[in-house]
Amino acid sequence: MTMKIIGTGSCCGDHLVTNQDLAQIVETSDEWISSRTGIRSRRLTTGLGTSGMAAKAAERALKDGNVHPEELDLILLATSTPENHFPNGACEVQAAIGAVNAAAFDISAACTGFVFALQTAYGFMAAGGYKKILVIGADDLSKVTDWTDRKTCILFGDGAGAVVVEKEEKGMFSGVMKADGSRGQVLSCRARSGGNFLTGKKPEIGYIYMDGQEVFKFAVKKVPECVEQLLKEQDVQKEDIRYYILHQANERIIDSVAKRLKEPIEKFPMDIQDHGNTSAASIPILLDEMNREGRLTRGDKLILAGFGGGLTWGAALMEW
Ligand code: ACO
Repeated sequence: MTMKIIGTGSCCGDHLVTNQDLAQIVETSDEWISSRTGIRSRRLTTGLGTSGMAAKAAERALKDGNVHPEELDLILLATSTPENHFPNGACEVQAAIGAVNAAAFDISAACTGFVFALQTAYGFMAAGGYKKILVIGADDLSKVTDWTDRKTCILFGDGAGAVVVEKEEKGMFSGVMKADGSRGQVLSCRARSGGNFLTGKKPEIGYIYMDGQEVFKFAVKKVPECVEQLLKEQDVQKEDIRYYILHQANERIIDSVAKRLKEPIEKFPMDIQDHGNTSAASIPILLDEMNREGRLTRGDKLILAGFGGGLTWGAALMEW
């Protein structure tokens, strides 16, 4: 048994913010941001939020795959910025799109979330009973960004990407998932915390904290390692891989991963210049853009690889 993507969709924030715009609010420049990250602009959500963008991306993926919402068995939403503790974001999507036959829950693995969610979908299909699953990556990081911190606020954008996956007999799907909770402090966003009923202390708002250089070192080491592991386990050669679709965190991370894998940079598509780092959404947004531009051909072997908070990282090998 294997599974195939039959439809893609995406929805990005409605408000364009350029590097020049950010230079008005923190001490930075277009040159500093673009040379160190590859980012030139990002889109922030001003109304839809995580679930709203996720629902729009989902509707587009269903339309692209010619799938009726009632055909879905399961909705998995990878996000670390849900609107609520409960109901979960996946249930909000389920209601918005009318997927009345689908179970729905969220998966939290920061920027690796979509790759973990895809592997979770595969696990449900392999276990039986699930034939069509909607897998979404969506994040509204702008609501947990400290807009006075130039080390982090220049990096992120908001968006959602969705795919519909269907059970198939022919093709290929396999993956690896990894975590190292002992290094969680390197990249974190604390929940509202510290509130105390007795003292009357109000909870503090959590913002993204990142040790940029540690994240950089972690990503360029762990992503090639898990990609090599996956290729070896599946006995697939690098020359057979059409594209490596990496989490769009930083152009320099992607360049370094390409070098370490000794693969040409042309096999690593990027859209980070226009979106910034959209966390769990970055891989499915890029997939959707490539699909709509006709850059993917059935049978292409793809590696999708994510890395992020947790720390978490992982990769999936699949045929388009
Ligand atoms: N504009 C201008 N100067 C800045 C900015 C900015 N936006 N941010 C930091 N600086 C300054 C610092 O204050 C520091 O100045 P100092 O030397 O006077 O103290 C100097 O630039 C160097 O700061 P570093 O933090 O060492 O900058 P670095 O070269 O490491 O670049 C960056 C920072 C781009 C974040 C880099 O560490 C990186 O690419 N890390 C990878 C992290 C990443 O991509 N995270 C994405 C989110 S996590 C994820 O998706 C998995």
